[in-house]
Amino acid sequence: MTTLFDPIAFGAIAAPNRIVMAPLTRNRSPGAVPTELVAEYYTQRASAGLLISEGTAITQQGQGYADVPGLYAPEQLAAWRRVTDKVHEAGGRIVTQLWHVGRISHETLQPGGARPVAPSAVTAKSKTFLVNPDGTGGFADTSEPRALDLGEIPGILEDYRRAAKAAVEEAGFDGVEIHAANGYLVDQFLRSNSNLRTDAYGGAIENRARFLFKVVDAVTEGAGKGRVGIRLSPVTPANDAADPDPQPLFEHVARGLASRDLAFVHVIEGSTGGPRDYRQGERDFDYAAFKAAYRDAGGKAAWIVNNGYDGEMAKQAVQSGAADLVAFGRLFIANPDLVERLRKGLALNEPDRATFYGGGAKGYTDYPFAA
Ligand SMILES: Cc1cc2nc3c(=O)[nH]c(=O)nc-3n(C[C@H](O)[C@H](O)[C@H](O)COP(=O)(O)O)c2cc1C
Repeated sequence: MTTLFDPIAFGAIAAPNRIVMAPLTRNRSPGAVPTELVAEYYTQRASAGLLISEGTAITQQGQGYADVPGLYAPEQLAAWRRVTDKVHEAGGRIVTQLWHVGRISHETLQPGGARPVAPSAVTAKSKTFLVNPDGTGGFADTSEPRALDLGEIPGILEDYRRAAKAAVEEAGFDGVEIHAANGYLVDQFLRSNSNLRTDAYGGAIENRARFLFKVVDAVTEGAGKGRVGIRLSPVTPANDAADPDPQPLFEHVARGLASRDLAFVHVIEGSTGGPRDYRQGERDFDYAAFKAAYRDAGGKAAWIVNNGYDGEMAKQAVQSGAADLVAFGRLFIANPDLVERLRKGLALNEPDRATFYGGGAKGYTDYPFAA
């Protein structure tokens, strides 16, 4: 019987256990450059089977929040290299989450104060987080986006390819995860409420999924086969993402991904950080059918699940074969040694929400290891 603590190899990654650190934005990279504290934070968690970095902007246009790191300037890549070197020295593996926020941004974060870009000029009913010149932070409404011209899409795909290549070759990541979840750019193309396009990228499911597949192909060209994963959130309403019937949309996505030689598919079950039984539209989302659509079409990637898992649920998911690995978010914030704690059944530290976004070492690198 396979357990949560058994090794697994997928693509170019050989993980000593099936416990994954989920991507977690922590807003501690001023000027989009990760600091030594960021390196310490990830290194503390290097016993995870796989670390997925916080969402990391592929371009300044892809930035949506203050103090989020990037992959588009030499100093950002050099700083990430210090992070990945330390993680590797500590025996860990780390991929970076490639992030373009699309419309979930603010003009003050965009190059030249421009409007954020999106599939269509539809403002999200959502907030972003900004830091004021005096250092205080606060939530602000997202700015009205402008629709991407058809002719601009190849440039965005090139941004993904370049960031993926730099992430692996310059920043030293073991691979990349495409952020296609939680209402950001790729998800905005998928959903009928944010994608009102009438060209080849809008309308029918096949068209709305086109951008996602092109991003996968561009990123695979950049990072190399076996080094690419993707994160999806079929029903999450975060950032005003909505679709009346996600099942056929995501089964189409699953079938298209099957032929694309991914290392892993990472699925958020339910509403990210909220109820696991959340639904969009009339019917419950059938995650088993979604996975079966991928496997039946020949998909071989490792299957990572996330959202609201505790140790027992995670053990069960792997033992039953429902998942190959399980990703933990909030538990990894509070427990750098989560693997050891789950293995030995030790008590867990509680995460402190007040220090999730922004700040320094407090609530970041000061959670205690088990004695
Ligand atoms: C502080 C915080 C930051 C997050 N940042 C990201 C992110 O950058 N990218 C992403 O895909 N999900 C992000 N998430 C969602 C988590 O990866 C995860 O899906 C969520 O916390 C549910 O998993 P959990 O129940 O194990 O915490 C974030 C969640 C939290 C609490």
